[in-house]
Amino acid sequence: MASRKLLLLPGDGIGPEAMTEVKKLIAAMNADLNTGFETEEGLVGGCAYDAHGQSISEEDMAKAMAADAVLFGAVGGPKWDSVPYEVRPEAGLLRLRKDMELFANLRPAICYPALAASSSLKPDVVEGLDILILRELTGGVYFGEPKEIIDLGNGQKRGIDTQVYDTFEIERIAGVAFELARTRGNKVCSMEKHNVMKSGVLWKEVVAETHKEKFSDVELTHMLADAGGMQLVRWPKQFDVILTDNLFGDMLSDVAAMLTGSLGMLPSASLGAPDPLTGKRKALYEPVHGSAPDIAGQGVANPIAMIASFAMCLRYSFNMIAEADRLEKAISEVLNDGLRTPDIMSDGMTKIGTAQMGDAIIAKFRAL
Ligand code: NAI
Ligand code: MG
Repeated sequence: MASRKLLLLPGDGIGPEAMTEVKKLIAAMNADLNTGFETEEGLVGGCAYDAHGQSISEEDMAKAMAADAVLFGAVGGPKWDSVPYEVRPEAGLLRLRKDMELFANLRPAICYPALAASSSLKPDVVEGLDILILRELTGGVYFGEPKEIIDLGNGQKRGIDTQVYDTFEIERIAGVAFELARTRGNKVCSMEKHNVMKSGVLWKEVVAETHKEKFSDVELTHMLADAGGMQLVRWPKQFDVILTDNLFGDMLSDVAAMLTGSLGMLPSASLGAPDPLTGKRKALYEPVHGSAPDIAGQGVANPIAMIASFAMCLRYSFNMIAEADRLEKAISEVLNDGLRTPDIMSDGMTKIGTAQMGDAIIAKFRAL
């Protein structure tokens, strides 16, 4: 039996509540399917700071580096608002992303049929939507140098951020986009602003070259990122995989996310480069939402984002495609049955809590 090592970092607020449902699911899979998941747990965020004064310990960092995949809940909350900047809860997540070199951020926008009516867009625009935004996560304007505020001495200051991309960074993220597209709808739309940005010119050129050399079986189109934002709201179903940089991806993934409804529904994955020897990628899976201090401890948080993040883990870290499909189908069918946590509640549906939602999804998964 294959050993599959998972590091669980539940974090703060509703993180642990959502993670509890994933732990139940992992236990059920190990029992039914002999999946051989081995889990270890660590501390990240405010709870880690309370325990030992760091937002993640060296020991837990080492476990993250050694694991096949990391499942991350959420961090932060008002309790830690005044802790020093270097050890604030978010620093733990940033350290994980940086040390694991997670350059590829996958944000799917899936509209479950049962929730299409509650989108802010017309149901026929979003129903059946299943697209993937792939955002470059470790380069671009958030990291480029120089990055500073200069005093110009005449009562004026100058704020500077620098957008920088090198060929290898664009090549590797483009490679991920084309590989992902092959497992889905076989289409990539690359978004940049080559009309006004030199980094955009290079982005477009390198994506086109990578496509020509290795992935010409995938359909590639290019779009200016502002037009892309418009098209995402006008007719999102035209897309399959959207490939874009750190800054545009930050915005476009949030736009795409909101097409589908509640924050409590949205999973994500962040992937590193494949190991040259084993071909394995470092990976971290987390819901898009935060620690939701306003509802923490009440047993009402929606665990679907965390469970759907685990489905991505099955798909991308363990190549367990059938199980991932089955888990996503279980989520969809539980929603079809009318079960709702408060954040997605609507007239005529059955309101349930975190544990009941987890149990219902696990029962459906077992029955499918
Ligand atoms: P948030 O995502 O925690 O909450 C925003 C709103 O959505 C709240 O009303 C919350 O109750 C609701 N919500 C979020 N997830 C939900 C779920 N699964 N089920 C039902 N309702 C849900 O964002 P907010 O309020 O801006 O931040 C709260 C804390 O979380 C802050 O300390 C922030 O720094 C941290 N945060 C952490 C993130 C992470 O760990 N990756 C990401 C975003 C925020
Ligand atoms: Mg954002």
